[in-house]
Amino acid sequence: MIPKIAVVGSLHVDLLLRTERLPHPGETLLGKELRMGMGGKGANQAVAAARLGAKVWMVGRVGRDEYGKKMVENLRRNGVEVSHVRVNGRPSGMAFIFVDRRGENLIGVYPGADEGCGVEDVEGARSVLRKADLLLTQLELPLPTVERALEVAAEEGKKKVLNLAPSRPLSPGAWKGIDVLVANEGEARRAVGRGRVRDLAERLRRKGPEAVVITLGERGSYLMTGEGGRRVEGVKVRVKDTTGAGDAFCGALAVALASGRPLEEAVLWANCAGALATTRVGAQEALPSREEVDRLFRRLVSEKFKGGGKEGLGP
Ligand code: RIB
Repeated sequence: MIPKIAVVGSLHVDLLLRTERLPHPGETLLGKELRMGMGGKGANQAVAAARLGAKVWMVGRVGRDEYGKKMVENLRRNGVEVSHVRVNGRPSGMAFIFVDRRGENLIGVYPGADEGCGVEDVEGARSVLRKADLLLTQLELPLPTVERALEVAAEEGKKKVLNLAPSRPLSPGAWKGIDVLVANEGEARRAVGRGRVRDLAERLRRKGPEAVVITLGERGSYLMTGEGGRRVEGVKVRVKDTTGAGDAFCGALAVALASGRPLEEAVLWANCAGALATTRVGAQEALPSREEVDRLFRRLVSEKFKGGGKEGLGP
């Protein structure tokens, strides 16, 4: 059965500048390479999921400009269904990204058309949420839109995965409807304050999500459920650019969960997708294929259980 995913989220054009290191305030840095690519956490996650074999519907907004046309065309080329990507009068969203030699990044977003994506866009896409197995959303759209998407998905009895990116304060009720919340360490800290990863995950889970995943780069992820917390291992790769790695992770996690895979196995598979995305430059250009993720996953599992014959994937 093909997993079916509705993504309610942002679409951007990314301008990516590679520099030796990230700039300091007030500093001018000369870059080594400039790239223009397709981005936006919503669109990246939609493409990630489609590339991994899911049927994907995108709900979002682009501007009435050339960039808007290019973004829609690009989604189509990647097999994403775009009938709920609407056009509005604002310029298309754009992101300005610095990437240093270690692959670390710094991102500023001009939301533009994203801001015109309102609760009516979600209501208009109810049929899509009805057809999908799972809603995948992030926080680059207006918060009422994201919160309404979570409600509608709940009304339709669907699974909900929220990527807390960028970290913004949700209303108390919204936390409760989430099946899996995904955040990186920085986003988790901005939401619940300082502490060790385990404490952050616990505090986030106390807000209401069924499960919380904190992504940790090459250290893998930390998974917290009602049964407790554990680290799900990562993969060491040669990092070129971390842009979009979280999106690759979320897209893969959504595909695995919509396919009915157990949560811990889904997180391990998504760790593989996130790692592969860091080995190439850019957001959508760097998203891995199904074959690549499966191959890396098989390698990881066989290394983990070498000589073992153990059941399950837990440490
Ligand atoms: O997660 C990476 C994405 O964040 C970029 O593609 C950029 O557009 C911003 O939305």
